[in-house]
Amino acid sequence: MRELFDFAAEALANFVSSEGEDFHLPPGRQRELGFTFSFPVRQLSIASATLIKWTKGFSIEDAVKLNPFAVSHVNDTIGTLAGGRYYHPDVIAAVILGTGTNAAYVERAHAIPKWHGLLPKSGEMVINTEWGNFRASHLPLTEYDQAPDVESLNPGEQIFEKIISGMYLGEIVRRVLCRMAEEAAFFGDTVPPKLKIPFVLRYSFRLDELILMKHLLNEAIASHSIIPSYMDKTDIEYFFENKNGWKKLGRDTVKEGDNQRSVIALDGGLFEHYTKFRECMESTLKELLGDASDSVVIEHSNDGSGIGAALLAASHSQYLKVEES
Ligand code: BGC
Repeated sequence: MRELFDFAAEALANFVSSEGEDFHLPPGRQRELGFTFSFPVRQLSIASATLIKWTKGFSIEDAVKLNPFAVSHVNDTIGTLAGGRYYHPDVIAAVILGTGTNAAYVERAHAIPKWHGLLPKSGEMVINTEWGNFRASHLPLTEYDQAPDVESLNPGEQIFEKIISGMYLGEIVRRVLCRMAEEAAFFGDTVPPKLKIPFVLRYSFRLDELILMKHLLNEAIASHSIIPSYMDKTDIEYFFENKNGWKKLGRDTVKEGDNQRSVIALDGGLFEHYTKFRECMESTLKELLGDASDSVVIEHSNDGSGIGAALLAASHSQYLKVEES
């Protein structure tokens, strides 16, 4: 853990030292840093957070308390939401579809039973859903999904993330390929020994190659009826927590004269490189929301989380300045 933060600090020091000689901070001002973390955190204040648990195959003993050096410390979905909102005031949710998956959205503060503090002036708060940890008996889990979960460092957790996200796709593909090699001599008489190494595909391929491979395999498998093709629509439906999420926000129907747009800021390699996934998402939205889906816009937010965290740091320090004066 120390090495990771030493590395971040060094990169930051290099960046600062590369600034032009004519850059000077106003007297009494410090630099303001935004920091996003791609793991579930308990937000103690904007500048302080503690790690709740590791996901995506990480397991590091050291307790992580993020507060020594940045003005804003937020989960990556919150950063993406803030960055997205800066560019489009209609952004109501942020979704990450990459190595892991998660979503954050803007909720009416009075509708949050867990919140017992003062209600914010805006009447709104952001919720980090940690939907990667979603599981339900309706999730179509195949043996190829179950095995990596059982063998993972966090069995029974992050099930939704484990069946769709970039971190696990390669492993799912490897297991399907292995079975095809064993039962249908897919690669000839012998199973390639490399294919037996867990997570080998994760390390040897780029995410977009893996995505393509899983897609091709799904098609091959579906047409040969070896195992059912389980990816695509069913997964996508869960992304939007069914229609209920939209109902909750009052955005599931089109009201007369209502031209409100609901923009979703989306980041991550899975979304960026897997066109079919994106198409499925759009058609499922249409199916779930009907005409109301016309007002839903998905915007790709490239590295939006870092920018969002920096913007949060900047706006927080402006707020402090106003409070002081
Ligand atoms: C983490 C989330 C994070 C997501 C996307 C998940 O594994 O639990 O906190 O937002 O990955 O990076």
